[in-house]
Amino acid sequence: MTIIVTGGAGFIGANFVYHQLKHHDDKIVCVDKLTYAGNLETLDAALKSAQFSFIRADIADRDAVYKIFADVKPDVVVNFAAESHVDRSIEDPELFLRTNIIGTSVLLDACRKFGIKRFHQVSTDEVYGDLPLDRPDLFFTETTNLHTSSPYSASKAAADLLVQAYQRTYQIPATISRCSNNYGPFHFPEKLIPLMIINALNDKPLPVYGTGDNVRDWLYVEDHCAAIDLIIRRGTVGEVYNIGGHNERTNLDVVKTIVHILGKSEELIQFVTDRKGHDRRYAIDPTKISTELGWTPQTSFDDGIRLTVDWYLSNRAWWEKIISGEYQTYYARMYGDR
Ligand code: NAD
Ligand code: DAU
Repeated sequence: MTIIVTGGAGFIGANFVYHQLKHHDDKIVCVDKLTYAGNLETLDAALKSAQFSFIRADIADRDAVYKIFADVKPDVVVNFAAESHVDRSIEDPELFLRTNIIGTSVLLDACRKFGIKRFHQVSTDEVYGDLPLDRPDLFFTETTNLHTSSPYSASKAAADLLVQAYQRTYQIPATISRCSNNYGPFHFPEKLIPLMIINALNDKPLPVYGTGDNVRDWLYVEDHCAAIDLIIRRGTVGEVYNIGGHNERTNLDVVKTIVHILGKSEELIQFVTDRKGHDRRYAIDPTKISTELGWTPQTSFDDGIRLTVDWYLSNRAWWEKIISGEYQTYYARMYGDR
């Protein structure tokens, strides 16, 4: 089989590439635009494998995508490519519409034109909006209404609806997964967990939005990759699968855990102006993927967060290069007078 992995130079896509190379002998072709979030160095080890190749391209560039499909003749496409950061979408929505919606539609058109065995859309639990903090009995299921809060989540929901429309109208054999917050190796430093690890290591303030009582449902990235692997091989066409491992934590708890693992002081924590439209709580009900495909997460939050801190301690060169570049301008803009 030949699998195109779009966005494979980003956080989850790269982990998925390594998961595939470790567990299967399929040919993997990564298609990535290498935006600020894409990093070819992340794929250094993969590039040494004869199973793997890389093509730099924008998924919203129709001519480039059609040429890739004509040359590569993929059996499966797994679409990770996206603008993925909520704060950037609040600052400037348009790029999110281009990559996340137009990009997905171009990939779907290529599937129509060239034929495909499976198109898998990597979506997010953010399409369901949020849950109240005082109702721990409520969870997102696959039938929860789409109810988005940010330009990012609206663009991901639009892409999901397009995938479902192409599946029904053109019989594109598609599946969708909606996962909760991931963490682990190669996570870009703008996101909560790597940002807090890196700032704490550098004895810089730890900027917690609002009161820090927003809740996220954390999943170790390897567990997400294993779930997608199962869906593309054994999932039912036309279905949506929620992915999550019941690892709910408040943001403040997560930050304090990191501070304690690193032996730093909680005095580094600084409460800053809240994110606009900030979703309160995400919580996934993973019953469907567990019962239908036998998926269960293997890594608890306590183990995963230690593995993640260890990874950032052992891979300083990877993140020091990132935070010494354009990231500094981004950081000053986002946090300078917050
Ligand atoms: P990321 O921002 O780390 O990586 C995104 C990758 O996509 C980068 O390599 C980037 O260069 C590439 N890309 C961006 N625009 C592109 C374009 N127009 N054409 C080709 N490549 C492009 O993102 P991530 O956190 O790895 O997320 C991957 C996917 O998983 C996204 O679709 C996201 O919505 C979804 N998701 C993420 C999480 C999470 O917690 N990070 C959870 C659920 C779902
Ligand atoms: O739920 C899945 C989603 O998880 C994915 O679809 C997104 O691509 C991914 O970025 C993530 O979105 P979040 O907005 O939940 O992740 P982020 O790491 O940006 O923020 C996590 C929480 O931490 C959120 O409540 C905001 C808060 N936060 C974040 C940052 C960057 C802070 O308090 N301080 C910060 O500096």
